[in-house]
Amino acid sequence: MDRTKNVYKEAVQSGKYEKVTGLLGKYDNVRRYWEDEITRMTVRPFLEGLIAEKSRRMERLRILDLGCGSGDGFELLCAVTSREPSLLDHQVSLITPEILGIYKGVDISEPLVQQAREVHGANGKLKFELGDFSQGLPVEKSEKAYDIYFTSYGTLSHLSDEKLVRLLADTAGHASEGSIIICDWLGRYSYEWQDLWREEEEPDYTMDYVVSYIYPEEEREDKELDHLILRLMSPREVEDLVNRASEEAGVGIRLKAMLDRSIFTGRHLDTSDYNRHCRPLRSAVNSLFETNLRTNLDTLVADYHPRDGFDDINDFFERYQMSWNALVFFTIDLLYYYNDTNCMAPPEILDTYPEVLREMMEYIKNIIESCHWIKVGDTRANIIEPQLGYALREMELRMQPALGCGHSLVGIYEIER
Ligand SMILES: C[S@@+](CC[C@H](N)C(=O)[O-])C[C@H]1O[C@@H](n2cnc3c(N)ncnc32)[C@H](O)[C@@H]1O
Repeated sequence: MDRTKNVYKEAVQSGKYEKVTGLLGKYDNVRRYWEDEITRMTVRPFLEGLIAEKSRRMERLRILDLGCGSGDGFELLCAVTSREPSLLDHQVSLITPEILGIYKGVDISEPLVQQAREVHGANGKLKFELGDFSQGLPVEKSEKAYDIYFTSYGTLSHLSDEKLVRLLADTAGHASEGSIIICDWLGRYSYEWQDLWREEEEPDYTMDYVVSYIYPEEEREDKELDHLILRLMSPREVEDLVNRASEEAGVGIRLKAMLDRSIFTGRHLDTSDYNRHCRPLRSAVNSLFETNLRTNLDTLVADYHPRDGFDDINDFFERYQMSWNALVFFTIDLLYYYNDTNCMAPPEILDTYPEVLREMMEYIKNIIESCHWIKVGDTRANIIEPQLGYALREMELRMQPALGCGHSLVGIYEIER
């Protein structure tokens, strides 16, 4: 009996017995199946180019992750896959172990660096150091240039404008021709914090950001949580600050791609801390991706409240919301139709709809048509709902206007000497 108790005690103490759910927490389903993936798709063409060039020069890839946390950038980048792998391929990562020369992660948080070392310490090509990027680029004088200078999940919003310019200028000075810088800020016009939108874009505009969303709703009110002061950024401001850094360094920092990510799936949609009109759409999308869990699809319906004085942003959100909801309603109607094909006609796909919406409607129709009859496993929870999640994600990727109206504003830059 004692032995039995000890075995389970050990198992619990190891931490490996903790309940895993994709519905909440830092690594929820939206992060893993939506945000990480959209970033990967955006980075893919640049990574392909870099790897081809490095291979031509008989060199390996060097990556610096600024604000690396527990090594999340390594996991994100190493899971970027080739464009269209065939059904037979199983090795699909662009960064193979053989092409990776070094990944160095730097973070100001000791516990996170410690955690990174515990998770990745066995891999000799991964290094984690304590460092502060608000004092400039945290590298030694003798350190060779990196091919990728990576940041993610709003990390650059930790910096004032002056410190951002310094970091980018240092980076440009350290990088070599063709190096890529991946920047990630919080978007100034995310619907999550509509109360904080300002008509004049005053410099160094920040918000008090509370990481309340990692707790279940019923626990949030009782927690005394510290605030982060984070910069909210628009594309115009980014352009200005990057140009200043480029001039200071005397090196070209050329914009290659800009992206709004998490337009209706930002974390504070669920808390409505900074906009009382928000519906908890992130929770609904988390549920779509959760195994063996059926989602009430009505919880996915968005209802954007426009704000006076922001015509371009309102116009985009109106179009986006109509397309998002149209796909949700279309899926609901299809489920009714395939549940009982006698009861109604299948929903129509109109020529007036945006191209990506029409494509995603066809896609969902094909999915439901080809699997609605399967009786093994929960077809709705485990096939149809995740595919609806992917279709909504594809709409975000292709409709996003790069106006700063997602949770994150991502910029990809190339160094030109
Ligand atoms: C939004 S988190 C992103 C963490 C991680 N990259 C990820 O993908 O989850 C921002 C990270 O930047 C780190 N950070 C903030 N200010 C920093 C600074 N001045 N120097 C170095 N790291 C900093 C924080 O400790 C935190 O780990």
